[in-house]
Amino acid sequence: MKLTLKIWRQKNAQDKGGIVDYPIDGIEPDMSFLEMLDVLNEQLINKGEEPVAFDHDCREGICGMCSLFINGEAHGPDRGVTTCQLHMRMFKDGDTIFIEPFRAKAFPVIKDLVVDRSSFDRIQHAGGFISVNTSGNTIDANTIPINKDDADKSFDAAACIGCGACVATCKNSSAMLFVGAKVSQFALLPQGQVEATDRVLNMVHQMDLEGFGNCTNTGACEVECPKGISLENIARMNREYLSASLKG
Ligand code: SF4
Ligand code: FES
Repeated sequence: MKLTLKIWRQKNAQDKGGIVDYPIDGIEPDMSFLEMLDVLNEQLINKGEEPVAFDHDCREGICGMCSLFINGEAHGPDRGVTTCQLHMRMFKDGDTIFIEPFRAKAFPVIKDLVVDRSSFDRIQHAGGFISVNTSGNTIDANTIPINKDDADKSFDAAACIGCGACVATCKNSSAMLFVGAKVSQFALLPQGQVEATDRVLNMVHQMDLEGFGNCTNTGACEVECPKGISLENIARMNREYLSASLKG
């Protein structure tokens, strides 16, 4: 395949940045999107040019690092996959592909396609955990009976990989799907009840401090989420928040 790549290049956080055109040839349909970028970078390095900086780690849909906005969509045109799982067969020979970083005030660009998503880490630190007795008398989790429906919903929420596609897709740059998933995975389990009140209040407070916008129920986040996180999690977080606020 022969393609024209239009890639966002930005030297550093202060640089204005802009789109640069890169014609590329010899791309196989079975290559992943990141392998295609590897080919481009090898060519740039061989020409003595600066390679394109982009984030990646696991390359199998687990770590959530590969945050690219491709042709106006977070993680590109496929559904239920991350950028590293996107294949070039989703494009046609001769296509022009726009590649940009995730855009949000709370995700500042560090370089080229790499953004700083430590705002998500700070939200997690604010309450995305449970306290476990490690004195040696810890009760095995399997001894606590949990309703199957709740266990399934908690597991589904825990599938969130913190990629930030929901934020990048939302017109308000809202992080409610991410935070909703992180609150829900514990709110549905008995182990999550001890810190339940503080958790939702602290995580939502941190989310607001980081500069994420509000949810206006558009639902674009759910469509673009590579892990199928449901909007139901936002509704659950809102219920948790209301009940925690009433408790004071
Ligand atoms: S909710 Fe989905 S889109 Fe948002 S961070 Fe989690 S996995 Fe990514
Ligand atoms: S590189 Fe880990 S999810 Fe894409």
